[in-house]
Amino acid sequence: MDRRSFVLAASSALPVLGCSFGRSRQAEGASAFDLGQVQGLTAERLDPLWGRCAYRVQAGPRSALQPVLFARRGERVALELRNRLPQPTAFHWHGLLVPEAADGAGFSPLLPGESRDLSFTVDQRAGLYWLHAHAHGFTAEQVYAGLVLPLRVSDDEDEALARELQLAPANQKVLVLADARVRGDAVLPYAPAAADCVLGWLGNRVRVNGAFDPALDCAAGWLRLQLVNASNARGFLLALRSGGRDLPFHLMGTDGGLLAAPVELERVFLHPAERVDLALPLAAGQSVELLSRAFDARVQVESLAPATLVHPSRAQWPTLAASELCSPSADSRERDSLPDGAAMPIATIRAHAQPRPRVPMPARLSSLSAAPDTSGWPLRRIRLDAAGSAGFVIDGAAFSVNEVGWRVERGAREVWEIRASPIGMPHPVHLHGAGFRVLRRQGTQGPARALASADRGRLPTDLGIKDTVTVWPGETVWLAVDFALPANPAFAGAQRYLFHCHNLEHEDAMMMRLVTVT
Ligand code: C2O
Ligand code: CU
Ligand code: CU
Repeated sequence: MDRRSFVLAASSALPVLGCSFGRSRQAEGASAFDLGQVQGLTAERLDPLWGRCAYRVQAGPRSALQPVLFARRGERVALELRNRLPQPTAFHWHGLLVPEAADGAGFSPLLPGESRDLSFTVDQRAGLYWLHAHAHGFTAEQVYAGLVLPLRVSDDEDEALARELQLAPANQKVLVLADARVRGDAVLPYAPAAADCVLGWLGNRVRVNGAFDPALDCAAGWLRLQLVNASNARGFLLALRSGGRDLPFHLMGTDGGLLAAPVELERVFLHPAERVDLALPLAAGQSVELLSRAFDARVQVESLAPATLVHPSRAQWPTLAASELCSPSADSRERDSLPDGAAMPIATIRAHAQPRPRVPMPARLSSLSAAPDTSGWPLRRIRLDAAGSAGFVIDGAAFSVNEVGWRVERGAREVWEIRASPIGMPHPVHLHGAGFRVLRRQGTQGPARALASADRGRLPTDLGIKDTVTVWPGETVWLAVDFALPANPAFAGAQRYLFHCHNLEHEDAMMMRLVTVT
């Protein structure tokens, strides 16, 4: 399938930028851009009342809000970043291995009105990556406001798979799922109360590429869904139902691209920042519900009286819409949100009546090797804790941008042992600057344990390359991390990356560490 036909398919369910804002469904959003052609990337606030924001992407005479971005492995990117928000922002390429200068991790955010040139090469396995806002203290508010774009990277293996599955143009879809707090037909502005700042900002509806409850039209045959969870705090337990039954589907890939072999499943966890690549066979005329099933999120938090969760860098800047952050009053949580683990509808998938021949799922999807033998690799112990009034912390202390953090040598290979306290909640922890492999899980309880069908206590999603892994309360997870940075001169000198929780309220509340690669 050529890129053009895929581009059209991917944009079949595109953004309504918050229902109260009243943009039509086909508006400017129904478009896709080749990242290599993009010249300008602007963060804009669309309206001050609701605080909705969007990325405007410009390539020559074309410009659009919230398109899907595409890149082929090896593609060169050179564009101008522009901040038209009333507060600082940073443009982070989640999952891409780029030098610190291009990573957009928030060390030097763009102030309102500023622009900056950016260039890097996409040297990455095919998969779904994403761009999102990342200025420390502003990440949660800006991501919720809409500053998220999916970036689908392709390569030879990925294209070969699409041909083997005979994917119809409309059957290869990129879906950005994001929890929203909706009252009536209005997407409420970001105004977390104290409890939201501890547990995360949860909503009551799911946006799919900006739209609520979309109907996704497809052809019969294999349907490929590449999904990212762009929610601030909500985890999804994805399932596909038809005629009152859960349909088996194939997990084909994770954060860092295709698995070696597909795994047949009936449900899969997708926590904030994680990606999955799923394939489902559709019969002619079939209608399927994509939903998140109810699960026990194992949230156990003792104190909800944090003292210092508002990031100091916020002091001099306004919010996106009139509101207070982490205020002990003003709580719409009870009224307008569902707890983590609540069942939620996501989208309806409808296959056309025209039958198509059924082709088998290939036994092998990619040349991905098994997780490495890590005997002899040094061990780094990391603890995730609830620290009373300080909220959640890594190794007992809040983040400081002035610390060196963990120093690792270029080319170092380490086993990370991440242990979460039993009092707490699931933490989807994320590393910039290196993908990793999940080696083993121990102490897993509840719904994650029920899905741990792979060896060494692992979930099927642990079999691929990850950049974000969810650590459940009381659990210990071992990772193989390889800091082999590319030999490219753009990576010369010490490179600072981040390790942090991708519950965005935890991230903004300093559940983060610097990783300095020397
Ligand atoms: Cu998706 Cu440090 O972020
Ligand atoms: Cu990232
Ligand atoms: Cu967390």
